[in-house]
Amino acid sequence: MGKPYGRSYVLITGATTGIGYELAKLYASDGNNLILVARDEQRLRGVKEELSLYSIKVYTIALDLSEDNSCEKVLDFVDKKNISVDILINNAGLGSFGYISEIEMEKELKLIDVNIRALTELTKTFLPIMIEHGEGAIMNVASTAAFCAGPKMAVYYASKAYVLNFTEALHEEVKNSEIKISCLCPGPVKTSFQEKSGIKKSEGAKNTLMSAKDVAEIAYKDFRKGKVIIIPGFKNKLIVTLNKFIPRSLSRKIILMMNKG
Ligand SMILES: NC(=O)c1ccc[n+]([C@@H]2O[C@H](COP(=O)([O-])OP(=O)(O)OC[C@H]3O[C@@H](n4cnc5c(N)ncnc54)[C@H](OP(=O)(O)O)[C@@H]3O)[C@@H](O)[C@H]2O)c1
Repeated sequence: MGKPYGRSYVLITGATTGIGYELAKLYASDGNNLILVARDEQRLRGVKEELSLYSIKVYTIALDLSEDNSCEKVLDFVDKKNISVDILINNAGLGSFGYISEIEMEKELKLIDVNIRALTELTKTFLPIMIEHGEGAIMNVASTAAFCAGPKMAVYYASKAYVLNFTEALHEEVKNSEIKISCLCPGPVKTSFQEKSGIKKSEGAKNTLMSAKDVAEIAYKDFRKGKVIIIPGFKNKLIVTLNKFIPRSLSRKIILMMNKG
């Protein structure tokens, strides 16, 4: 079965702020139709209006990806509109900060639902359709946290390790096809994510973080090139490389020291 002609879309989760929002603008300015997913309906409407200056079609789906059946709802929407998701960007993600015994169970489980379950379900929903169409692309957003253990952010770091390993495995499975699979691994980025996760940073420290715009621009370019693991910024690349050469026992001590502040 061929895909509906001229009805191809880029689906971006978490597209109202931060990295997802910047990616949405880049795809829009390049003439791609968009499906934007986030919880806040009003902000989704605002982004849709903002992108109306481009001659593209924008659909929005107000949805909490931590809820059961959220991915089914996305597929239902796409089927009803008779459109096709050619590019899937699993960007929505949550963080939780603190010692494991201090963080509420509900918060951690919600994190797992969004960062792991929804990302896996959306990938498993749309990848087979892309395979059937013979083309497509998926970018999953992990973090430099994916490369190490993260005391005081244990569940978050572990969730991103899942995303990295899952995505790399899929890349290998489909690499002889026309389907591109990438994993974006940013270091700390200046978005509302830090505050929402409970990470406290001084204004000075915040100003040293990469901007979401810079991260999105690098991601956009490298994803198109088919790069498997995208680590934006020299400093982040260096940290990930150095981490490979030190024992894990030392790496986790350093992370704990950093997370203690
Ligand atoms: N910022 C960093 O330091 C950093 C570093 C490395 C990796 N990352 C990763 O990059 C990705 C994007 O982060 P960001 O910094 O751009 O975050 P952000 O500015 O907080 O944006 C998060 C986006 O996800 C949506 N979202 C949150 N929870 C959702 C849910 N339950 N269901 C549906 N949508 C939801 C938010 O909209 P609503 O609130 O309206 O739902 C928003 O559009 C995440 O996966 C994060 O883990 C971030």
